[in-house]
Amino acid sequence: MFAGSTRQRIDLYELMATGKLGLALSTRAMLGLVSKDLGKVEQEFRLESIASVEAVSQIAQYLQGNGGKRLRPILLLVTCRLFREPSPEAIRLAAVVELIHTATLVHDDVIDEAKTRRGKPSANVLWGNQTSVLAGDWLYMQAFQIALRQRNFEILDLLITLTQQMVDGELLQLERIGKIDISEADSMELIDRKTASLFAACTRLGAISAGVTEEQQSILGEFGWNLGMAFQLVDDILDFTSREAILGKPVGNDLREGKVTLPLIYALDDASPADRARVQTVLTDGNYERVHFEEILAILDRHQGIERARARAQEFTAKARAILAGFPDCPARTALFAATDLVADRDR
Ligand code: IPE
Ligand code: IPE
Ligand code: MG
Ligand code: MG
Repeated sequence: MFAGSTRQRIDLYELMATGKLGLALSTRAMLGLVSKDLGKVEQEFRLESIASVEAVSQIAQYLQGNGGKRLRPILLLVTCRLFREPSPEAIRLAAVVELIHTATLVHDDVIDEAKTRRGKPSANVLWGNQTSVLAGDWLYMQAFQIALRQRNFEILDLLITLTQQMVDGELLQLERIGKIDISEADSMELIDRKTASLFAACTRLGAISAGVTEEQQSILGEFGWNLGMAFQLVDDILDFTSREAILGKPVGNDLREGKVTLPLIYALDDASPADRARVQTVLTDGNYERVHFEEILAILDRHQGIERARARAQEFTAKARAILAGFPDCPARTALFAATDLVADRDR
């Protein structure tokens, strides 16, 4: 879908923003700015994910062909464009972050025993866990190989630290699976590691590839980090409020997988013992047979769990916007503002 023509890409984003004309227009402007670069990133991704073992190439191509928003390479490229046109190295780095993202998704779906990704059966369903784990490893290593060609230790250091942070995030999540008493701070720590770290790396890499000062790199890293925090919070909200056909993965999945995310953490703050017991039942059962998904939605509703999580997400996007406001007005800055709107208002 997204990996297709520019036209299709724009259509997809318009779909994301259905009924939101302003959003669709700014998304169009954002994509217009990087669509040529993105085409090159797609090509790079395709070429670089050809392995000597067929299954690895198949998994990479399968995921690439099934869509995905390409938000991480877009962020890297647009951040670079705040200062200059992306160089061939910047294009390669954009492919690197999408490869890392793809590897994390392949591993994540094994860990979560997910059945669906990007609206299609996930790699673990089609190729099995063993092959998927090894394919994920290969994709990580390929990402580092590409980065290594730049002979830039700073970039390698950043990518390795990032990957370790993301693994830490998945490990922390595993430790907390099935636990009802998760604090807001626990949740933030997890989101920081598993999602915001990659967003921060993307914007920082965009700044590094533009050759700007360390201070600007870290400011833009902070912009990406705030956006990433908001992005995952919205993902956690959509898990309750969206529909599978739109999201490309089942709803109600987090709780079924044993993950208590921020909307529920807030709701549980002042929930009755009976409501708490309902949530515990789903955690224990790993399904919605005894307590239906609708009952969980009702609990969220009673305690404004969604609204409170949304307000928290908005604090992060507001911070991201405030950081952007410190940069001179230019098409790339407008595009990054559009990215903050997209993250806050997305429905997939
Ligand atoms: C999915 O990321 C993993 C999360 C951090 C929630 P995206 O929602 O960006 O996935 P694709 O690439 O668009 O499929
Ligand atoms: C986010 O974790 C994926 C990674 C950052 C690896 P989730 O498990 O919450 O993401 P989805 O819901 O599978 O996309
Ligand atoms: Mg998952
Ligand atoms: Mg999730």
